[in-house]
Amino acid sequence: MKHLWDTPFLLLILLHLLGAVMSQVNPGVCRYPLGMSGGQILDEDISASSQWSESTAARYGRLDFEEGDGAWCPEITVEPDNLKEFLQIDLRSLHFITLVGTQGRHAGGIGNEFAQMYKIKYSRDGSRWISWKNRQGKQVIEGNRNAYDIVLKDLDPPIIARFVRFMPVTDHSMNVCMRVELYGCEWLDGLVSYNAPAGEQMNSPSYPIYLNDSVYDGAVIYSMTEGLGQLTDGVCGLDDFTHSHVWPGYDYVGWNNESFPSGYVEIMFEFDRTRNFTTMKVHCNNMFSQHVKAFRQVVCYFRSDLDWEASPLSFSPVVDEKNPSARFVTVNLANHMASAIKCHFYFADAWMLFSEITFQSDTAMYNTTLAPPKTGPPNIQPEDDPTHKVDDSNTRILIGCLVAIIFILVAIIVIILWRQVWQKMLEKASRRMLDDELTASLSIQSETFTYNHNPNQSGTTSEQESNSTYERIFPLGPDYQEPSRLICKLPEFAQSSEDPASTSTAASKSTTTTVVQDGVPHYAEADIVNLQGVTGSNTYAIPAVTMDLLSGKDVAVEEFPRKLLTFKEKLGEGQFGEVHLCEAEGMQEFMNKEFLFDIAEDLPVLVAVKMLRSDANKNARNDFLKEIKIMSRLKDPNIIRLLAVCIYSDPLCMITEYMENGDLNQFLSRHEPEGQLAQLSNAPTVSFNNLCYMATQIASGMKYLSSLNFVHRDLATRNCLVGKKYTIKIADFGMSRNLYSGDYYRIQGRAVLPIRWMSWESILLGKFTTASDMWAFGVTLWEILNYCKEQPYSQLTDEQVIENTGEFFRDQKRQIYLPQPVLCPDSLYKVMLCCWRRNTKERPSFQEIHQALLEIQP
Ligand code: ADE
Repeated sequence: MKHLWDTPFLLLILLHLLGAVMSQVNPGVCRYPLGMSGGQILDEDISASSQWSESTAARYGRLDFEEGDGAWCPEITVEPDNLKEFLQIDLRSLHFITLVGTQGRHAGGIGNEFAQMYKIKYSRDGSRWISWKNRQGKQVIEGNRNAYDIVLKDLDPPIIARFVRFMPVTDHSMNVCMRVELYGCEWLDGLVSYNAPAGEQMNSPSYPIYLNDSVYDGAVIYSMTEGLGQLTDGVCGLDDFTHSHVWPGYDYVGWNNESFPSGYVEIMFEFDRTRNFTTMKVHCNNMFSQHVKAFRQVVCYFRSDLDWEASPLSFSPVVDEKNPSARFVTVNLANHMASAIKCHFYFADAWMLFSEITFQSDTAMYNTTLAPPKTGPPNIQPEDDPTHKVDDSNTRILIGCLVAIIFILVAIIVIILWRQVWQKMLEKASRRMLDDELTASLSIQSETFTYNHNPNQSGTTSEQESNSTYERIFPLGPDYQEPSRLICKLPEFAQSSEDPASTSTAASKSTTTTVVQDGVPHYAEADIVNLQGVTGSNTYAIPAVTMDLLSGKDVAVEEFPRKLLTFKEKLGEGQFGEVHLCEAEGMQEFMNKEFLFDIAEDLPVLVAVKMLRSDANKNARNDFLKEIKIMSRLKDPNIIRLLAVCIYSDPLCMITEYMENGDLNQFLSRHEPEGQLAQLSNAPTVSFNNLCYMATQIASGMKYLSSLNFVHRDLATRNCLVGKKYTIKIADFGMSRNLYSGDYYRIQGRAVLPIRWMSWESILLGKFTTASDMWAFGVTLWEILNYCKEQPYSQLTDEQVIENTGEFFRDQKRQIYLPQPVLCPDSLYKVMLCCWRRNTKERPSFQEIHQALLEIQP
């Protein structure tokens, strides 16, 4: 059998594991993401100077994360001269940071804020903050040019820090949001600072050679204190110190023997904690032709706690006058325990030049190949140890674990894929079943439909327009794609509309795309099935799960003999059909007992008959039949009830109960509040109590719908019907009624949106949930308390309503709320305000709102 270990993949891993191990941080390899995107950095370790809103808090500033509102955004606009705002990351221990990544707020296409520039500040102890500068002394880093691309910037010099702050910089006042990542590895040296005499200038015959520590981040006066710099930047100088990628001598810090009468240079090293030191490696130049040599002796003193150890450690390397190569001189520190080390480096020539000093302590070793950021492989020896060996048993265990993880991952992927395919098949099958079943029922031709009393009317169906190219203008169709266009109307979103990437946004794709924008809880929108009403109505959006339930064979509604319908009058007209008031003979048999108490046994019953044009295309027919399926399952006293259907022959009909007082909007517009004014004008009145009673019934109907996870999407007084004694039933007539065309905002002839009733997230994200129904309920309540005398936001144009939606999104207290109606008590206005809370999770449920209204009702 071919052994697993033989596979090239494992060999690769093995090679990696056995790869060169260096005891010095290697900036070329130390580039691991430190955990903003991967989640290893905890939310509590990400903080910020301020936040725009809860959903743009610091914790949302993780690179490549789309949670919350998509990024960290500071509270206020960033001004060019005001660098107060920052996003701070606490790495919990010192890290060597070589690279940073930034990204703006894209949020599935609705966000377009990013930092064009930024600065970085860092700290090792949380109190002394240092501004990062590049090797030329420039602090500002070029950031993002759009909201979605990740821009990576090398930090040269790298940073050694525990805390890092990103500070957006702008050249003009602008809104900025950021997502960030830090890349590097843990700083295992533990060195917090070194203090040394300032590097000097060597005057060569041709040009001066600056041997100062140009990136030292502590204080430099005559000597360098409390900082780290070139000796810890991971860059080793060349053999010829005059050559460098910056300026001659750049990579070295050097001292002249003449400046040190004692004959040595003292460097003091401070560490983050007491450590057990094994070695110190000093990278020295040895260009003896230029009077530069490595040190001839080093004497190190150790301090643990407060006291310096009495006996120092001394080491004298062989002075090399043959090989001019720069080299690491390794000093064995003999397991001294210390939190500080002070070393005297004795000159061997006129000059002593160091470019790196590293410390090895405890088990701290850098693996330059496969080392994960936080855990160095414990089984690997230093590279210059002649006994350098890999502990085989540990390696095998490690490889075994890796293989196991790979198998588990593959298994998980297979299971996920399999489930998805299976689910899709099931969904398709259930839809096909539904369609087949209904198409089959259509093909059964039976009675011919005639209007008993007005035969001319039968001609209406033939007058209807051709069905071939009817325009889907409903916002609720599956191809509803408009929110992004609306978003573009908001100034700060304007740019994203020009940008092709932002037009392919989640919000604009379809309602089947889940946009996790504000954590709308209810249920995944991906599961919502939209049903477009046929006679111009929407019907509700329901979750696919419910849809599956509904696709069962038993449609709970019976076929009604057409000939028993007598046309009385036209109640309404939609794009795909008409609604007629009819008398239905013998309807009593089709009605539930609850309807029968005030209906004479032998008289015809008044019903509303919704008919599909006989020339409607297959889509419209199927939608009509689906609507029947859904309606037939809705059984609630406050939802319009489907009594029977005529689907054995054309035109397809739905017979619903008739509500004698028409829709609530017209009903209330005809009425006045009780009082003197009404008395004088002799107008019919509706008492405040009855207003509350009607509102409570709407809440109750919505409670029922929401319990089934139905989302109405167009709750408004125009979609509620009024029967006897102020009874209310929720219906859905769609948006094609001329009377209410002003309530719908038409986007370039495509989608039609009831924007004045819509929540900010429905408008901006295309997100329709029970929470957005709740928003619409608040507006409906407002209409009711105004006796439908005024359109919501009547003083605003449609465009201004959309702009106001942007203000709801920004939540900077600039949004305009519908005002408290004159007759509305504070308690009821508070209820409305709850419905319009920005955070969907904070809006009440219909259960709660129903209860609240019951309690308010006098
Ligand atoms: N559809 C349109 N008007 C109606 C009414 N008054 N009752 C029931 N359904 C209707």
